[in-house]
Amino acid sequence: MQLHERILELSLSRSFFFPANEPYNPSAGFYEYGPVGVLIKHRIEELWRNTFTKSDGFYEVETSIVTPEPILIASGHVGSFADPVIECQKCKTRIRADTLVEEVHLSKHGERWDGKLESLDRIVEEQKIGCPRCKGELGKTFMFNLMFKTGIGGEQSPAYNRPETAQGIFTAFPRLYKNHGQKLPMAIGQVGRSFRNEISPRQGLVRMREFTQMELEYFFDPGDTKYPGFQEIANEKIKLKVNGQVIAATAGETVEKKYSPNEIMSYFLVRQWEFYRKIGINEEKMHLRVLDLAEVPHYSKGNIDMEIETSFGWIETIGNAYRTDYDLSSHAKQSGKDMSVFFNERKLVPHVVEVSMGVDRLFLALLEHCYREKTEGKDWEWFDFPPVIAPYQVAVFPLMKKDGLAEKAREITEMLRNSGLDVTYRESGSIGRRYARADEIGVPYALTIDHDTLNDNTITIRYRNDGKQERIAIHEIEKTIRENVKKGRVTL
Ligand code: GLY
Repeated sequence: MQLHERILELSLSRSFFFPANEPYNPSAGFYEYGPVGVLIKHRIEELWRNTFTKSDGFYEVETSIVTPEPILIASGHVGSFADPVIECQKCKTRIRADTLVEEVHLSKHGERWDGKLESLDRIVEEQKIGCPRCKGELGKTFMFNLMFKTGIGGEQSPAYNRPETAQGIFTAFPRLYKNHGQKLPMAIGQVGRSFRNEISPRQGLVRMREFTQMELEYFFDPGDTKYPGFQEIANEKIKLKVNGQVIAATAGETVEKKYSPNEIMSYFLVRQWEFYRKIGINEEKMHLRVLDLAEVPHYSKGNIDMEIETSFGWIETIGNAYRTDYDLSSHAKQSGKDMSVFFNERKLVPHVVEVSMGVDRLFLALLEHCYREKTEGKDWEWFDFPPVIAPYQVAVFPLMKKDGLAEKAREITEMLRNSGLDVTYRESGSIGRRYARADEIGVPYALTIDHDTLNDNTITIRYRNDGKQERIAIHEIEKTIRENVKKGRVTL
């Protein structure tokens, strides 16, 4: 069994995530988070906020999902946000043509699709590629737009569910610039749902039709691509994949050797490298791939993707794009409104570096990287989540229900919950079984209330990774847990 198959089984039974609308023969590409998964997801989002907006004094907004058509004409999504599709003449299944041709033929020769529809048709014909489902004959390829279409108050005002959270930031930019200091650089983030009507999504959380993005748009004067304080991180090392080779480079070198389009993007590469390590991605299984100009999206003059190794192969989880003034200038043209700013005694249209992260793929990669098999000392599969993203920071267990132990344990639970910690509480089952259940969802610390607690106001704290225990006073629990979470300490 592949790791992702086991992770799916565990996710279903441990309430990490499950297919949407389960009783109705669910459509592929839609997943929902259960009570445990949603806590981890929110923690990832909160840590992103702290790292990418609050700590640098940036801003966050929440803009509309339903987006009028003119905005997406300006952004280029109506015209070019499409994938090549091929339809089986017999069973009518629609398949993503580039994926099919790459899987069946091109990848065997280490090649990728050249971007031309006629190449796909030629290869399908030459290689006699048939429908993967019924072996029927395939038709001609055509482009299929990936946006979900709707109408505002009716069909006369077409609109779409947004394909990226970025566009709401661009259209809000003039107001935000006016209200918040009228200075560059200025950066604005957003966390929210985006939508892509993928043709035949597979691979669970990797390719979803409705998913969550965490995007940051950094607006700057194109005449000044320096990042304030860059020197402090200039010697930090990251791993880059350039022309197929993985190399180590400092942030400074990524600028000097022009791997990155500018210092601003290099700064964010270092920040995302640290962010991923902190939340539990294995550093050996990540690199930042410098894309060829032929591969970059229509709005970009330089892209670097974070890629993570999973049991599905290497998957892209962050796109860093130098979007230049593409979006602001396009919106100015489409709307007839001025999107320029007056800065340093000049009128200019700011340029943008974007850091766009997907939450769901990251979540899946985390489950894989933090998964631990059964061992001699632990007869259950568990998750080695760093305490900062664990669903609950702490589990509270009375050794037994009687003799006032449950009352005392509930009192401690309430005290910890009131202090802002996420606590899971269980009073039934053997203590060993309860420790196992907590490990299975990655809770780093468990507290046991026993008869001594009633006499001396101390409890036992158990550490998930090695099962070691120590005794601490009740009044020190909150401080001890917060310090341990901060240090990432899950062993004694
Ligand atoms: N905003 C970039 C993307 O959604 O891919």
